Amino acid sequence: LEVTFVEEDGTVRTVAADAGQTLMEAGKGNGVVGILADCGGSCACATCHVYVDADWLEAVGAPDDVEAEMLDMVSDVRRDTSRLACQIRLTDRLNGLRVAVAPYA
Ligand code: FES
Repeated sequence: LEVTFVEEDGTVRTVAADAGQTLMEAGKGNGVVGILADCGGSCACATCHVYVDADWLEAVGAPDDVEAEMLDMVSDVRRDTSRLACQIRLTDRLNGLRVAVAPYA
């Protein structure tokens, strides 16, 4: 499947990913700028913060409580569409997913 990241400078990067990977792994593994993932995907750093494209919000779903708390740490740049990429598990249903990389708080 394929997912698309829009980097902070507007660069659009569509990368191949496997079902079962997280969106963070797909981004970091393909060198997407701004997906640092300092905590390695344990929902403890918010450096994998992305904004989910409006068309995909429903398919991706809402953050759980732990993730929502971590997003509170970046409240300056948090939006209604904010998610942590390491908490989005890719499935074939998310083929074509589009997100924008969020700036650091
Ligand atoms: Fe640290 Fe996602 S990689 S919160």
